[in-house]
Amino acid sequence: MRGLRPTNRPDVERIESPIAAAERCRTVRDTSPSTRIGFVPTMGALHEGHLALVRRAAAENDLVVVSIFVNPLQFDDARDLAAYHRDFDGDCALLEGAGAHIAFTGGLDEFFPEYDLYGPSGTDVIEAVDPGPAARAGLEGDVRPGHFEGVATIVRRLFDLVRPHVAYFGAKDWQQTLVVRHVAGSGEPSIVVVPTDREASGLARSSRNARLSPAQREHAAVVHRALLAAREAFAGGERDPVALEGRMRAVLDREDGTEIEYAALRDARTLATFDGPVPDDGARALVAVRLAGVRLIDNLGLVPDEESE
Ligand code: PAF
Repeated sequence: MRGLRPTNRPDVERIESPIAAAERCRTVRDTSPSTRIGFVPTMGALHEGHLALVRRAAAENDLVVVSIFVNPLQFDDARDLAAYHRDFDGDCALLEGAGAHIAFTGGLDEFFPEYDLYGPSGTDVIEAVDPGPAARAGLEGDVRPGHFEGVATIVRRLFDLVRPHVAYFGAKDWQQTLVVRHVAGSGEPSIVVVPTDREASGLARSSRNARLSPAQREHAAVVHRALLAAREAFAGGERDPVALEGRMRAVLDREDGTEIEYAALRDARTLATFDGPVPDDGARALVAVRLAGVRLIDNLGLVPDEESE
């Protein structure tokens, strides 16, 4: 909290229990009601993109809380879940200096203590939160069945535990930002979408990039080039959604080994498709590919917009 630290070095308080973290946040709210709480939910494997969220939260709030939890509810592939990097202490070390005050983690059973999760498919018994209409607009919702139900369910629980004023999410997971807006509704927290942090090549930062070699990372920058190609064609007057999608596919197809899952143009707020010409604003290009066995997603507004790049 501003002014409450004895030194300039903001040590991150590490809490390995969601209930204890909730109690800590409640104590802050009770003892210091004017304290503004900013929240950054993560699954760990932190990188510069996460730290950008934390820095933004620190600039706009008094207390910054970060959750670090690899949420099994949002994985449809057990191997992907098993391969996810987990290192709470290493992640907390990365948070030092970024402005976070509290980092917390816990097991699934501690996030959902009201359920008996023991047994081979314990996650099935947790009642899912409705992720809203954007989750049913295809894209990630089609490729990863159940994913957004899992995201909505954990995000609802995280919001209830932390009760933040504001929560921060990266624009890279555009469809997810619409899901969390649905979960938050019109009350608190308000949702801030932070522009995608990119490598020099344009590749969006992602925990999955660690699974790519340096050469594969260069190759993966084709995703950003494809999005830029759609934006360039749009700026040049192209309004046919099929033609704009074709521009993206043409760029992606030029890089051998890029398997396209989707290259789509959608309404940025609803993710609805366009039956006719793409309107002058409010359209977003979204891409998902597989490259060297790694799944990568990215998106851009067709009109440059610093707030939601
Ligand atoms: O974006 C993520 O890292 C996750 O989907 C989130 C929001 C932390 C929920 O597990």
